[in-house]
Amino acid sequence: MTFTPRVFSGIKPSGDLHLGNYLGAIRRFVPMQDTHDCIYCVVDMHAITVWQDPAELRRWTLELTAAYLAAGLDPKRTILFNQSQVYQHAELAWIFNCVARMGWMNRMTQWKDKAGKNAEAQSVGLFAYPALMAADILLYKATHVPVGEDQKQHLELTRDIAQKFNNDFSASIAAHGLDADYFPLTEPVITGAATRVRSLRDGAKKMSKSESSSDMATIYLMDDADMIAKKIKKAKSDPEPLPSEEVGLKERPEADNLVGIFAALSDRTKADVLSEFGGQGFGAFKPALADLAVSVLGPMAAEMRRYVSDPAEIERILGDGATRAGAIAEQTMAEVRKIIGFVR
Ligand code: TRP
Repeated sequence: MTFTPRVFSGIKPSGDLHLGNYLGAIRRFVPMQDTHDCIYCVVDMHAITVWQDPAELRRWTLELTAAYLAAGLDPKRTILFNQSQVYQHAELAWIFNCVARMGWMNRMTQWKDKAGKNAEAQSVGLFAYPALMAADILLYKATHVPVGEDQKQHLELTRDIAQKFNNDFSASIAAHGLDADYFPLTEPVITGAATRVRSLRDGAKKMSKSESSSDMATIYLMDDADMIAKKIKKAKSDPEPLPSEEVGLKERPEADNLVGIFAALSDRTKADVLSEFGGQGFGAFKPALADLAVSVLGPMAAEMRRYVSDPAEIERILGDGATRAGAIAEQTMAEVRKIIGFVR
């Protein structure tokens, strides 16, 4: 069977939103609304795989929803909802916990990185995280998932789970008159290199909301114009002028990052940005980047604040999204319960 193309993606409400979330994820979700049936989620159940302060979790959930809306997601065309409001995510995740193998989970590099040498002290939920992610995607039989490079392995696991489910239950799937490839083999839509935003203090590290070493490393979406300009001015760079061609950015991770941010914010290629700024030093480039960042992020922040000041409206939008997501999710679960042999 051929599946109707459908996009699903999610972001964890587990910290203040930053430029990396915006350029790498949220902003890329917007144009997909014109070409695909889209479902975007605030994955609060994934957030609690590590401890979250309840008041902060609530605030971040509202802020992330506000960011989705401020960036241009249209809650009429697109389903925008909060994961924990559609209980079928937990239900299908449990079933997938029983489909996935310990060995598969153990091989996840994100688990290994996060657990480090202290796996014993991690939550069971952190280990099972990828099964919940597979449930998010497959509840809606999503065919395409826009994510960063670091989520590719989780998407492979999602395909492994879909395939094993389709195989393990093939007889029951057929007996219920359902298509043999019951769950689709979902494809990642990987973020382009130009939108892989790095820390402003260390070009080798990803820009992150949990960066503890220095707050100057991260531009937050709620930063005001002065703060954005200050962070860009203080960003790590090097003494060389910018090259005129992209190859000249090799071995210059900080320069590459700043040019990449400029390119992404202005919807241009790095080559195009370098054709303008090649030969100029950071003394000229940084103020231009600061102006650009303020002109793009300023209006976005204002719009976010407007939404955040009206939590009842955000809750209404999330409620509506949950109703629509829940209707699709329940259709899938009604079939899955039969396939499994659960008596209702
Ligand atoms: N694991 C993803 C991340 O950390 C977030 C996520 C949860 C997700 N469920 C998803 C992304 C489903 C895409 C689809 O970025």
